[in-house]
Amino acid sequence: MDFDEHTALDAVLASFADTPDPRQRQILDAVTRHLHALVRELRPTTDEWESAVGFLTAVGRMCDDTRQEFVLLSDVLGVSMLVETMNGDAHGTAGTVLGPFHMTESPRRELGDSIDEVGTGTPCVITGTVTDPDGTPVPGAVIDVWQCDENGFYDVQRPDIQPPGNGRGLFHADDEGRFRLRTVVPSHYPIPTDGPVGRLLEASRRHPYRPAHIHVIVTAPGFQSLTTHMFVADSPYIDSDAVFAVKQDLVRDFTESTDAAEAERHGVTLPFRHAHFPIHLVRSGNAS
Ligand code: BEZ
Ligand code: FE
Repeated sequence: MDFDEHTALDAVLASFADTPDPRQRQILDAVTRHLHALVRELRPTTDEWESAVGFLTAVGRMCDDTRQEFVLLSDVLGVSMLVETMNGDAHGTAGTVLGPFHMTESPRRELGDSIDEVGTGTPCVITGTVTDPDGTPVPGAVIDVWQCDENGFYDVQRPDIQPPGNGRGLFHADDEGRFRLRTVVPSHYPIPTDGPVGRLLEASRRHPYRPAHIHVIVTAPGFQSLTTHMFVADSPYIDSDAVFAVKQDLVRDFTESTDAAEAERHGVTLPFRHAHFPIHLVRSGNAS
């Protein structure tokens, strides 16, 4: 039978029919069906198809050890968050995207230490608890945080201004699952726009900004690890994150305090901001 518009799909599906691994066969089958449906819907010209291939080629060329343009593409298409959401457990704190800036090891710090080594932003105290969904503390949970500074840059983006490890810290929760740290209020910032994904955003009149957030990965033996953010409630772009990563449970008030006794207790200057973040980890092997 000739390969034509009506026989094309079946011909390609049949070519994959003997794929031994059932999951791989299912994936190849679905990719083929959806891609053919897309082409039949859009009816691209050969020039348009070449330009689509050119776009993906440019995305690939932009990737290296520290830049992952395919992940960025998946982020701005909402696919990273879709995968994250479908794999999350409804009983625990919601997960969200990892992002590209968890590229260096966070320095080990003691509870109450500051992760800010520059001292130019608005002082901020973060307190939190790590518990299971019923509220039972998870003592010794490891809390790995990283954030940008008050100008929207991570340490790795501005090594001339920020020492390595600035804005990063690895903490261990106390016997009651509590943690606390000092920092500065992070800023909103744009995702990288100097590649094909940036051109895509521009062509579609989309802004590249992410609302202010602090990244966190929480791990503890016997629990599923959690990769998430603490979002600053009054940040610009809180309702229009370029990578769709905001979930309402992750948005916290960073309340301003002028309480001198509290400031002294935490070792910060006035005025400072304070946010509290309760984290619920789900036990390993628990299906939701
Ligand atoms: C970030 O929050 O670090 C990030 C996440 C997705 C894309 C770009 C940056
Ligand atoms: Fe970030």
